[in-house]
Amino acid sequence: MIMETHDQYNRILRDLRLSVTDRCNFRCRYCMPEEIFGKDYAFLSREHILSVEETVRITRIFTRLGARKIRITGGEPLLRKELPDMIREVSRIPGVEDVALTTNGSLLARHARTLREAGLMRVAVSLDALDDDTFLAMNGGKAKVAQVLEGIDAAAEAGLAVKVNMVVQKGVNEHALLPMVRYFRERGHILRMIEYMDVGNTNGWNWDQVVSKREMLERIHAEFPLAPADPNYEGEVASRFRFLDGQGEIGVISSVSDAFCSTCTRGRLSADGMFYTCLFATKGHDLREWLRSGATDDEIAEHIMAIWEGRHDRYSLDRGKAGTGTGREAKVEMSRIGG
Ligand code: GTP
Ligand code: 5AD
Ligand code: SF4
Ligand code: SF4
Repeated sequence: MIMETHDQYNRILRDLRLSVTDRCNFRCRYCMPEEIFGKDYAFLSREHILSVEETVRITRIFTRLGARKIRITGGEPLLRKELPDMIREVSRIPGVEDVALTTNGSLLARHARTLREAGLMRVAVSLDALDDDTFLAMNGGKAKVAQVLEGIDAAAEAGLAVKVNMVVQKGVNEHALLPMVRYFRERGHILRMIEYMDVGNTNGWNWDQVVSKREMLERIHAEFPLAPADPNYEGEVASRFRFLDGQGEIGVISSVSDAFCSTCTRGRLSADGMFYTCLFATKGHDLREWLRSGATDDEIAEHIMAIWEGRHDRYSLDRGKAGTGTGREAKVEMSRIGG
């Protein structure tokens, strides 16, 4: 039986974001700064990571509780060798309506076709600038722009719907805003600009480094006039704006200046099977333990339902009131649970 599960603010559990590895071949300064995620960093070991079978089983249980949209993230999910198998199996689960992947794009040219054939529908590729100096400085010197653009082209050729995610950081890549808008508009891909967030504990975030949604829109509107567009679905993360000349649209993700917690339907599972009910959670719920302890699907479903029903997260809404970081327990790292 498929049902809807509601939390303390009456939000349903509709999206499951599956992180399939905590490793990444990039070292973006805002996510995995090299000096912390260096040679000695303790990444998850093989036996702690959910197998394909375990991932498929837990996803099936989540769909019984109402999950419809599956997003695969990391770290960098393409580092996980069994990714096509996982996508093949997950996309066949009854109730799964959408399977998307968030990736840094560096390995996409090689794998796009296989992933499409396995049942993947959409990709969100992260790219923060079109000039190598800026991009290399942001990703820790790990890949040039051309490599990611090739990945994007290969994904589009393979028939995957493509969105491009750009984190905008004041004084770092603001200058790339208009070139990025121009480039992706010409190619028919939706660019989404993300306000720089205080995820994890290591990026040294503060308000001065944020370019607000309003500021971004003003700059873009001056060159490419825009009009707001209706959301594609209730609780869409990005606010949509279409170009008045009819040539496509952009999105802005404004977790900092204009939070969207009131409609947040997203649960997150780390590669080691910890269930997080918020991107900024300080604590996960260990589902791997349940998967490996001989519990039945019904028992696990009931356990997850109880967690969701008790959920009252709304970190971004409260950020403005309480400030950030100080006096709070350590948050989960973004590289553990994806975006
Ligand atoms: P669509 O399904 O295409 O609408 O995409 P999406 O917005 O669900 O997916 P995507 O993974 O591309 O999200 C883009 C970015 O938005 C993420 O990388 C995060 O930075 C941010 N984001 C997504 N979900 C949340 C959330 O629940 N809270 C906050 N604060 N940020 C989020
Ligand atoms: N603020 C905003 N977005 C971030 N991402 C990673 N760290 C941050 C942050 N601190 C984005 C990545 C990618 C997605 C997985 O999350 O750029 O698009
Ligand atoms: Fe890797 Fe994405 Fe984090 Fe960059 S933002 S280090 S690409 S997981
Ligand atoms: Fe959802 Fe937490 Fe993001 Fe708010 S801050 S939208 S509750 S994940």
